[in-house]
Amino acid sequence: MVNSVEMRGIVKKFGTLAANNNVDFSAGKGEVHALVGENGAGKTTLMNILYGVIAPDEGSIQIDDRKVHIGNPAVAIGLGIGMVHQHFKLVPSLSVAENIVLGSEPGSRGFFDRLAAMRQVAELADRFALAIDPMATVQDLPVGLQQRVEILKMLYREAKILILDEPTAVLTPQETEELFRTVRNLTSDGKTVIFITHKLNEVMKVSDRVSVMRAGRMVATLNTSEISAAQLAEKMVGRSVLFQVQKQPSEPKEVLLEVKDLRVMSNRGLEAVRGVSLQVRAGEIVGLAGVQGNGQDELVEVLAGLRRSTAGDVLLRGSSSKDFNPRQVREAGVAYIPSDRIKVGLSLDAAIWENMLLGYHATREFNRGGLLDVGKATSFARELISRFDIRGAQVGAPVKSLSGGNQQKVVLAREFSHGRRVIIADQPSRGVDIGAIEFIHKQLVAMRDRGCGVFLISADLDEIFSLSDRILVIFHGEIMGELAARDATVEEVGRLMAGVNRRGGDVIG
Ligand SMILES: Nc1ncnc2c1ncn2[C@@H]1O[C@H](COP(=O)(O)OP(=O)(O)OP(=O)(O)O)[C@@H](O)[C@H]1O
Ligand SMILES: [Mg+2]
Repeated sequence: MVNSVEMRGIVKKFGTLAANNNVDFSAGKGEVHALVGENGAGKTTLMNILYGVIAPDEGSIQIDDRKVHIGNPAVAIGLGIGMVHQHFKLVPSLSVAENIVLGSEPGSRGFFDRLAAMRQVAELADRFALAIDPMATVQDLPVGLQQRVEILKMLYREAKILILDEPTAVLTPQETEELFRTVRNLTSDGKTVIFITHKLNEVMKVSDRVSVMRAGRMVATLNTSEISAAQLAEKMVGRSVLFQVQKQPSEPKEVLLEVKDLRVMSNRGLEAVRGVSLQVRAGEIVGLAGVQGNGQDELVEVLAGLRRSTAGDVLLRGSSSKDFNPRQVREAGVAYIPSDRIKVGLSLDAAIWENMLLGYHATREFNRGGLLDVGKATSFARELISRFDIRGAQVGAPVKSLSGGNQQKVVLAREFSHGRRVIIADQPSRGVDIGAIEFIHKQLVAMRDRGCGVFLISADLDEIFSLSDRILVIFHGEIMGELAARDATVEEVGRLMAGVNRRGGDVIG
């Protein structure tokens, strides 16, 4: 195999922390190379170095057997390297075509040739079988298509080496399948795809080789066909990982959360939630399965006080919480783990300890006569950092200095630690590593066993199945069916997710 990327002896320190500690990495032409490792292992840092976002302290890089110095992303792009970041970098208000050509627009003497841009983008999309409407505004597109725009943007710049940082974290299973098809098209075209993921089944499915990082070091590079997911997990975490959650049958008690005939409009003025009713009892985990975009987001936003409903009611322990704002929802005993930690869950520039108190700073525990007890707050944060194993975290450092998965752990630590009875967990393990998923799942079960009611919304069927006591399936804003988790099958849930209802049998509702 011809190497297109060769990184040798890469060192990058942030203060005393070695995010990359003498790392060697290479990827071949026409290869899908997966890069895995725990949260904070140094994957994004390594790829940011390859893309010229971060300057390494030591080490060398060769592209197509030529030694290069990648001082900034423009140099990387010139060398045929493209990267789609963990968090997209598109301009939401611009069109697809504008986003794709941005920075290398066709036209002369400073005039932007809109028609040429549209045409070029359409041709490109056609060539790589990536269907997209060049005139659509990016903010109106579902995440899967926004990602497609990012990929097209790389291809427009003639990238030969494509870096995808956790591309599937935000995708539906269908979108993931489409992405994999694209990846295969790209590699058969001779391109190199470097693919960061926490989902080991994806590694097994799509990669030719896999490199494993642990605590800043590269611990192994293997042929995917020669290992199992379990072996890979052990290499990553340094111990074996339980893929199965251990839990006793639930003993549901009183109703904590009730949704009655709820109707909610989407941002686009369509009815996204169309008469949903459900209950979550103390001591149970109710999972909501569904393909993303079927009303889950709007439903959850109403429950969290972030959006108004147009009809129906939400009851918390029997009293209406309709039209509550987020603070009132919290005060009524609801913990909320949002699916988008950057937009809703965190204040990126604020310190880790401040984030751990976000929304709870006025509680009696941390507040004396209107003054925050900073000492108490920081020691509380310190305890959570150790209990939730938030790697690389110093209480006073800004949250943005943490790796993606560790940022997610900050949200979880906060929401699990203020004694709430109702837990709304929207994609709680998005972007976290397998060890941390195991931990989060154990925590959710423990909260259930302590008498909390957990409402779990997840696009990940494995997660739904391993945690839920009851499974609800949402389709086009309606609950298609309810199943007891112990006798539900993936096929059944899958059918309901696709809107196929079966009368009789074990489908209730
Ligand atoms: N700008 C920065 N300042 C300080 N520390 C940083 C910075 N960027 C990254 N780090 C630290 O370097 C380490 C590696 O981070 P990196 O983002 O590369 O991890 P990762 O493997 O991509 O993790 P994840 O799976 O959570 O995305 C982490 O401990 C992180 O906190
Ligand atoms: Mg990362």
